[in-house]
Amino acid sequence: MNINRQVLTLDEFTIQGLRDFPKATGELSSLLRDIGLAAKRVNVEVNKAGLVDILGDAGTMNVQGEEVKKLDIYANNQFMGVLKHGIACAGIASEELDDIVVFDDPVSNNSKYVCMFDPLDGSGNIDVNVSIGTIFSIYRRVSELGKPCTEEDFLQPGNKQVAAGYVIYGSSTMLVYATRRGVNGFTLDPSIGEFSLSHPNIQCPESGKIYSVNHGNFFQYDKPVQKYIDGCQRKTKTTGGPYTQRYIGSMVADVHRNLIKGGIFMYPGTTDKPKGKLRLLYECNPFAFIVEVAGGKATNGKQRILDIQPTELHQRTPLFIGSKAMMEELEVLLNAEPAEAAV
Ligand code: AHG
Repeated sequence: MNINRQVLTLDEFTIQGLRDFPKATGELSSLLRDIGLAAKRVNVEVNKAGLVDILGDAGTMNVQGEEVKKLDIYANNQFMGVLKHGIACAGIASEELDDIVVFDDPVSNNSKYVCMFDPLDGSGNIDVNVSIGTIFSIYRRVSELGKPCTEEDFLQPGNKQVAAGYVIYGSSTMLVYATRRGVNGFTLDPSIGEFSLSHPNIQCPESGKIYSVNHGNFFQYDKPVQKYIDGCQRKTKTTGGPYTQRYIGSMVADVHRNLIKGGIFMYPGTTDKPKGKLRLLYECNPFAFIVEVAGGKATNGKQRILDIQPTELHQRTPLFIGSKAMMEELEVLLNAEPAEAAV
């Protein structure tokens, strides 16, 4: 029987990476394997989402007499569970939880990594069969090994990330992750239940034709942002538009598309919410890391996302992220004198 050895599974890929670092302990590979396992379990439940009415509404008992949990809580528990039972993670922070969870057992206290995740981003889209995702981010802890991890381990700037990634539950299920060595995408092969390398060495196109933003908030954005969006709809020297507008309202799907095809995604501050909606630690930092490793850029409009020193776990930040040339066009307007930037 011929076996296609061209296609590596996620486990094979991370283990192969270890060959280049003979002194590596394999902890990061183990952590990624744990995340891959949780993603497969969540994928099974996401695929059944339309059956919830048959199996039982969230908060009620299903036909097997089990309590049906909201999918985002289910996803949170899966990711937290695999990381707790693994050997490579000292603790986690989750968009679903108010505080960090310190695993505090002899193995975990000697683990060198902490992990942050948004277990089910875009969960507002579950009921309407739109792609949703999980976002994760891995840091080397700064607290003393051998002791429980602390909040300080989680409040590190994004430029300290060791790895970051996302899972997209879409028309197929993909896991994409970045280390400083590159960004690689793995598609879940349902026939063997494994993530298989389908998108090696992803590069974000230098420019693109897609802009993604919630147009409903247009009149709440700052003038320079309005001017950029206006330019995206016209043929001007500044933006090279008109561009195509695509906005799903599920960041994982929106940024994934723009990463592959080239484009810019924006969630600016508004008059009602000057810091926007997206969370620095669970959404913006991981994507900023992935997109920068792939050759793109990410800022809050004033500062590189990865250089922001976090002060609280759930802090929000405006986000502009995408293809380098498009980001540079935007930055010209954001840095312009107010009079110049007026629409
Ligand atoms: P949620 O997980 O609450 O559905 O939020 C999704 C996030 C992000 O994925 C998406 O880009 C953004 O919120 C959409 O927000 P708007 O609906 O305000 O555009």
